[in-house]
Amino acid sequence: MKNSLITAFGICLSSGVLSAQEKVDFVKDIQPIFEKTCVKCHGPEKQKGKLRLDSKDSTFKRASDSQVIVPGNAEKSDLYRRVTLPQSDDDRMPNEGDPLPKAQVDLIRDWINQGAIWPDAATFKTAASEKKETGLAEHKPSAEELKAVAQLETLGVSARPIAMNVGWREANFHLLGSNVTDSTLVPLKSILGLVDLNLGGTKITDTGLANLKGLTNLTRLHLERTEITDSGLAQLKDLKNLTYLNLYGTPITDSGLDHLKGLANLKNLYLWQTKVSDNGVGNLKKSLPKLEISRGFELKPPEKEPAKEPAKEEAKK
Ligand code: HEC
Repeated sequence: MKNSLITAFGICLSSGVLSAQEKVDFVKDIQPIFEKTCVKCHGPEKQKGKLRLDSKDSTFKRASDSQVIVPGNAEKSDLYRRVTLPQSDDDRMPNEGDPLPKAQVDLIRDWINQGAIWPDAATFKTAASEKKETGLAEHKPSAEELKAVAQLETLGVSARPIAMNVGWREANFHLLGSNVTDSTLVPLKSILGLVDLNLGGTKITDTGLANLKGLTNLTRLHLERTEITDSGLAQLKDLKNLTYLNLYGTPITDSGLDHLKGLANLKNLYLWQTKVSDNGVGNLKKSLPKLEISRGFELKPPEKEPAKEPAKEEAKK
């Protein structure tokens, strides 16, 4: 009874006050939240709970006891319930990393209460579609490249396609951690279709980085918590498509940053627990004014525990 009263009130509220309240727009407000936080587990690659949040049908037409989204009723929508659960609850979404900020939770609530309008034309960005947008056609791997992929496989690392039926690949060495040394990286130099590479927490050094020199399609590179130094970064200076670079927990100093000045597409750089100074960061900013540089401390809201950003990025893979 109490519930239905609240629900009825909620409906009155959402229809009655609608004109005063901002109308939430799926493409502008909601889709970016799904893309950033949910699609990695509920998208083309993984469908956790058999749910794809990049698909209208998968989200609305589900044969399960609880409905993911009940248009007009956030309180009855499993999706809204899950993003509002406390962090300790197993059902909470996202089920790892930080909870959604309150502003985003509110947007989701308002959007559902306003009828959960999801335009058919909404198309989601995936690594594959981004590649198409940037004008890079499909990648056809050479025989040599396929051989190198097989070779990596024998070492326990799969360089797998980023989506079905595409030649672009991603490889994650992070899980093998200290078993990965410079020699493990040798096959990489032939895998020209590599767009996403995680070497975080491995035993590689500057010598190993030389194998990345020609991987000009790379867009994301994790080098956090490795022993790479300033001179190693010189190997990255031709990786013009890099948008993301994580150097957290490395002995990098200001002079290393000089090698990054030509990476015009770089959007995110993580420098938490490195030896760079304000000066070095300021200099890099002069060459790359749009670059977002995270040094850890600015990510940490006062009431929270130490910055989680680098750890979160790691957990992503
Ligand atoms: C790290 C992986 C991961 C991320 C990120 C993630 N989820 Fe999930 N999600 C899961 C898993 C695993 C399940 C299935 C287990 C369960 O029911 O709790 C699930 C289940 C769900 C379900 C229930 C599906 C059903 O009907 O059974 C919903 C709704 C959901 N997630 C929404 C979200 C939303 C919204 C986000 C982003 C804010 C999100 N998830 C992010 C892993 C993830």
